[in-house]
Amino acid sequence: MSPTTTAAPGATAPGAVADKYRTFVSKGRAALGEMFGGDVEVAAEGAWLRTASGRSLLNCGGYGVFLMGARHPRVVSAVIRQINTNPIASRLLLEPELANAAEALIGVAPQGLARVYFAGSGAEAVEAAIKLARAQGKRHLVSMESGYHGKTLGALSVTAREVFQAPFRPLLPDVSHVPFGDAEALDRVLRAHPGSGCVIVEPIQGEAGVILPPEGYLREVERLCREHGALFVLDEIQTGLGRVGHWWAADAAGVTPDVLLVGKGLSGGVVPVSAMVATAEAFRPFDKDPFIHTSTFSGNPLAMAAAQGAIAAIKEDDLVRKAAGLGAVIRARLAEIAETVLGHRVRQVRGAGLLIGIECAVDGLAGDLLIELLSAGVIANHSLNSPAVLRLTPPAILDDSEVLVLLDAFDRAARAVVS
Ligand SMILES: Cc1ncc(COP(=O)(O)O)c(C=O)c1O
Repeated sequence: MSPTTTAAPGATAPGAVADKYRTFVSKGRAALGEMFGGDVEVAAEGAWLRTASGRSLLNCGGYGVFLMGARHPRVVSAVIRQINTNPIASRLLLEPELANAAEALIGVAPQGLARVYFAGSGAEAVEAAIKLARAQGKRHLVSMESGYHGKTLGALSVTAREVFQAPFRPLLPDVSHVPFGDAEALDRVLRAHPGSGCVIVEPIQGEAGVILPPEGYLREVERLCREHGALFVLDEIQTGLGRVGHWWAADAAGVTPDVLLVGKGLSGGVVPVSAMVATAEAFRPFDKDPFIHTSTFSGNPLAMAAAQGAIAAIKEDDLVRKAAGLGAVIRARLAEIAETVLGHRVRQVRGAGLLIGIECAVDGLAGDLLIELLSAGVIANHSLNSPAVLRLTPPAILDDSEVLVLLDAFDRAARAVVS
């Protein structure tokens, strides 16, 4: 790997960066950085990132963003071209990159989805969906326990986790949470709100610790939404664009939501961007009044170039198929290592495609594994809503030798935590 950095010498020294974090950013964030060894990342290319101290780390974390690795040439060249032409639009005139990005996203979205509203973060896409629902009278929101949809106030209202919600109440009124996978509980709530429900659900709960629902659950959710006149919003911010070995988890489940939420990988790992994709019918309030929900940077040409580059890269590099194949191999090998080295300390290795969760049966083990993996040269993630689950979201561009680096690092980390 040969990433370049233009930072002035000294500006990236780990101690100096930590001091600035402590002084200007957040003491807590600085402490967290120190817990992970105190190094700082300064450059990235493909599956690798480089630290100021000269280490190369295999990035299998990044909260699911790096499906195509870092700085994919297709995305970088599209973004650079856009910087040199028209990075931020006037917003008074129409602008082609927004139109082209919307067309590209609809081109790969599940059948029946027809309109796109672009935003900057996943939570903003969730906000747009909540407002779209309210604008058509679907005012009772239903989300799933332990689900994750972001932390802005609206998104937080449907992120059913006490520790995140408690300091910020009151949140939105008219919200119910039901257990993920329990169609009967959903039926009861929707029955009590005929014609006015809006269900927001992840197809696989990522931050809850990679929880897969029972077979047929999403089809049942779709059926119940139709039966009770509820809007069906599927949050594929973490699972979409090939991450789970299908373009969308919706495809694998055989469902078509009214609204699909996209984020993370849509950025190509280069410019943050998210999207709310809806059927023409569901989108009607936003079609009618283009000022009902706006944001200065929504659909900015730079992000639109990144989104088009990302979608093109996923197609051209066959990343959906690769995620399925690599995911099956990596999950199986991780499970073997976990069983051999960690035995009963690991409850399950599970996932779909390259969204992988390792559920630990011992308190603190997931955190210890995360730290040991980092020492062994691999970045992973914890799960925001489950301290027991270590999460791996490797890029779909890993070659055989990089897969071996990951497996070897996991083997070493597992041995370190039991020694
Ligand atoms: C399923 C899901 N929805 C929404 C979000 C929120 O996205 P963001 O952190 O970009 O606001 C996340 C982030 O992890 C997510 O996994």
